[in-house]
Amino acid sequence: MLKNNNKIAILTSGGDAPGMNAAIRSLVLAALHYKMEVIGFNYGFNGLIEADFCQLNESSVRNIIHCGGTILKSARSPKFMTEEGQKQAAENLHKLDVSALVVIGGDGSFNGMLALKSFYQGQLIGLPGTIDNDIDGTDSTIGFATAVNTAIDAIDKIRDTAEAFDRVFVVEVMGRHSGFLALNVGIACAAEQVLTFESFKNPGLELQNIANHIKQCKVERGQSSYLIVAAENLWPEGVEKLCSDLQSYANIKCTPCVLGYIQRGGDPVAKDRILATKLGVAAIEAIRAGKNMIMIGESSNQMCEVAIETAIKHKKQVNAALLKAQNSILDIAELAQLNKI
Ligand code: F6P
Repeated sequence: MLKNNNKIAILTSGGDAPGMNAAIRSLVLAALHYKMEVIGFNYGFNGLIEADFCQLNESSVRNIIHCGGTILKSARSPKFMTEEGQKQAAENLHKLDVSALVVIGGDGSFNGMLALKSFYQGQLIGLPGTIDNDIDGTDSTIGFATAVNTAIDAIDKIRDTAEAFDRVFVVEVMGRHSGFLALNVGIACAAEQVLTFESFKNPGLELQNIANHIKQCKVERGQSSYLIVAAENLWPEGVEKLCSDLQSYANIKCTPCVLGYIQRGGDPVAKDRILATKLGVAAIEAIRAGKNMIMIGESSNQMCEVAIETAIKHKKQVNAALLKAQNSILDIAELAQLNKI
């Protein structure tokens, strides 16, 4: 570890997430409180390689807590995937006398920290920032709550028009390879079906199951809207293809809708601002305590520290009770069979 622990750096990397600015603000103010100097690298790990940085002070983080995106910009950095890029990044950190680097990002960014560790002698601290909520060891990631609310807002509007026409809609939400957004959004929008990685047990039968469920609901409830929330990357070739598959397999007409990047933007909700603020302060305290290669998270309302390796090693599991509620207890088709609606 480096001797001087007075100069820290921050970067945001990978998909931006609402609340990243709140985290930057909290880190900067907490660092200034403890008389540390703070710099911010622009464009994620690219900024480390290019030594593209700015000084951060109180005025840099004034009036940013409510803004989506990230004032430090973000990037996915192919250069940083190479050993040459990692060595260059470490060299720049050493030259600039940075004793600790805080990385705000998701699993790709945490993998970047693991790579940098081989060449950098300072402390590395991660803050979980991604709308996907796919980082293990923290109940929620910065940005997840806002993305859920944004998707709910959009889907409630889709429901209005679906209801007016008795249409079947298939709405794709983000999440990369994780079902947190799909399940939580689906529950909150009372989707008739949620298609997630966690509930796709038998790929061969899925089309039949999806079609049967739609038909059964139409029979039991009469004419009505019907909403499927699907995780991105789940159906080969996406939700447009799922809709055309349903049309050719069962003559069901569905309207596809990909929500896309709208879920990444927007003002962070209170939960994300507060989470980001708590994580930022805890990160500075962890730096002062000499911690290294950890992620700061929150578990059951308590701040926690998780080894970076652990945070990315296990696939974070969606809430099993929520999955069961969606797929069985609250399922309209199951209810119809038990009771007749
Ligand atoms: O990780 C956040 C995320 O928005 C995912 O939900 C999505 O799969 C991915 O990033 C999109 O990445 P890009 O911005 O590189 O297209």
